Amino acid sequence: MSDTRQVFRQRIEALREEIRHHNHRYHVLDDPEIPDAEYDRLMRELRALESDYPELVTADSPTQRVGDAPVSAFGTVEHRLPMLSLGNVFSEEELRDFHRRVVERLELAEAGEHLAYAAEPKLDGAAVSLTYVDGSLVRGATRGDGTTGEDITHNVRTIEAVPLKLLGRGHPATLEVRGEVFMPKDRFEAYNEHAKAAGEKIFKNPRNAAAGSLRQLDPKLTAARPLDIYVYSVGFVEGGELPAQHSEVLDRLQEWGLKTCPERAAVEGIEGCLDYHDRIGRRRDSLPYEIDGVVYKVNDLEMQRSLGFVSWAPRWAVAHKFPAQEELTTVRGIEFQVGRTGAVTPVARLEPVFVGGVTVSNATLHNIDELHRKDVRVGDTVIVRRAGDVIPEVVAVVEKRRLKGAKPVRLPKTCPVCGSPVVREEGEAVARCTGGLHCAAQRAESLKHFVSRKAMDIEGLGAELIEQLVASGQIETPADVYALDREQVAALERMGEKSTENLMKAIEASKETTLQRFLYALGVRLVGEATASALASHFGNLDGIAAASEEALVEVPDVGPVVAAAIRHFFAEKHNVEVVRTLQERGVHWPTFEPATAKEEPGALTGKTFVLTGTLSAMTRDEAKSRIQELGGKVTGSVSKKTDFVVHGDRPGSKRAKAEKLGVETLNESDFLDLIGPE
Ligand code: IVH
Repeated sequence: MSDTRQVFRQRIEALREEIRHHNHRYHVLDDPEIPDAEYDRLMRELRALESDYPELVTADSPTQRVGDAPVSAFGTVEHRLPMLSLGNVFSEEELRDFHRRVVERLELAEAGEHLAYAAEPKLDGAAVSLTYVDGSLVRGATRGDGTTGEDITHNVRTIEAVPLKLLGRGHPATLEVRGEVFMPKDRFEAYNEHAKAAGEKIFKNPRNAAAGSLRQLDPKLTAARPLDIYVYSVGFVEGGELPAQHSEVLDRLQEWGLKTCPERAAVEGIEGCLDYHDRIGRRRDSLPYEIDGVVYKVNDLEMQRSLGFVSWAPRWAVAHKFPAQEELTTVRGIEFQVGRTGAVTPVARLEPVFVGGVTVSNATLHNIDELHRKDVRVGDTVIVRRAGDVIPEVVAVVEKRRLKGAKPVRLPKTCPVCGSPVVREEGEAVARCTGGLHCAAQRAESLKHFVSRKAMDIEGLGAELIEQLVASGQIETPADVYALDREQVAALERMGEKSTENLMKAIEASKETTLQRFLYALGVRLVGEATASALASHFGNLDGIAAASEEALVEVPDVGPVVAAAIRHFFAEKHNVEVVRTLQERGVHWPTFEPATAKEEPGALTGKTFVLTGTLSAMTRDEAKSRIQELGGKVTGSVSKKTDFVVHGDRPGSKRAKAEKLGVETLNESDFLDLIGPE
């Protein structure tokens, strides 16, 4: 070998070592030491050298993960030791039986109480076997039927967390490890999101995603799937020694660069197992990967050997399953529920089924689009899922079991609670009841809004009191707030004399208000504070707004056709008009004024539109807004081309970025203060 070639050979080896080290830090330990750009630089250098000296390329070089061409079919692999399955237990009682049998067979008697188990999450992915010869990965295989699996070497090589070469030294000449390949939940979601957008096939769950990805003929496809692995045992070993305890074996594998589950733990006796099951069970939903139970293994390998096997499962290990999160049941009916904000949501009434640890008899279908997409019909057999505290949902229909004559479900035209029309605005997934103040389902929520600080500002009438008043039927509409008498108020829970007095005073005081506040308080959909203020200054009085056509409404700055339609809907509803009239009869009043168009003196900021973002130090955002409005300017919530200025305080967020993108002028706090001048 020439001298220069020798030098490059050494450089190549050094680069590989370094890259392997960083791969391990990044993909196995999740603790990178160098920035990605530096890693990329090392890889580029190695690639360049390998392309100059192709004869120096080896299969375990970090550049060779996706090296192979697609295969036309999978080869088969005979497992030197069978890949076993596990017995399952579903209850504490069954687990105690398992433990008793272990203790009896090992003749441990009293000492059984302290028997050491290795406990690990039971991962929901696909089992694989990886064989290393002299530290280099030579074979990856699926479990198959336990005796014969498929050769998926080309695919497991693409999983970054699988070392192509083991770290450190002292590996047995032949070392077969076994583990679970899985797709972490967040990567699964992101993958599906992406696939959906690209019109590609999506995976039902992370397990299918992992198993399906491993069975690709083209390793490039597998490489594009975000897979991960935890190894959980060793298979065939030759030419080397391993420690005597299962947990120590896994520690050793971890040292050699193989990834083991960070949740694994050594526990003592049955109580230790139960405690572990409980602990992991409570964290199940927050773990970054899917699990369907925990596995306990007698930790001592000598004991494992003496316990042996029954047919396909070891006597020394057991899976303690969590309740299934998906089950089949049938749909008894589909009803539409009206939420507190008027959203009309389809709900499936189900034949009760035990799933995710509870009996489920209702499942949300989210919205009408979702209902149609899943095409759920009455009588259908469906897969129901309940994970953790999440609301149970219908995952899919088992179409093969659909009854003849089952009809698609339609959105009702009228609200099932109050009979008002149900509308669905363009581009909106959610259908809504237009009943507003009149609809019993929306009462408490609209009342909370009505009394809130920026609306009628009735201090002391909090959410709890409102719930009580609504539940007892004492209040149906906001107008009833002004019909409450002292005795009624005093009779509410936790109301003393003083608080009754204060609340009565607050109610009385709130009668004197402004048109802007009153409009906002009515809770017309899409009419926030800014719109209410714009409407008030444009029309100057309520009758004008109530009678305005959509054409007249869109004249108002900040009011588009959708908002105009929502305002029209509101005032077209007899009940709403009735409530407004009663409120006025009961003493709610505000000054009317000449519409803004007739104003003589324009302010310094007339015609200018502002968006405020971030925290200001000299004043609150509300104060800034009032100042702008006093000077004739307008404040809106979102940045568009029509925005004149974006005022940003501390931690501005995305609005400033958007302004910069659209070329809208941005002002920091001191620019802004200069602009508005002294008060
Ligand atoms: S030990 C003889 N440990 O569960 C021991 N298996 O039902 C056999 N699995 O096919 C496996 N997580 O794919 C073991 N921590 C874990 C596991 C685990 C998931 C899977 C494995 C196996 C199946 C057995």
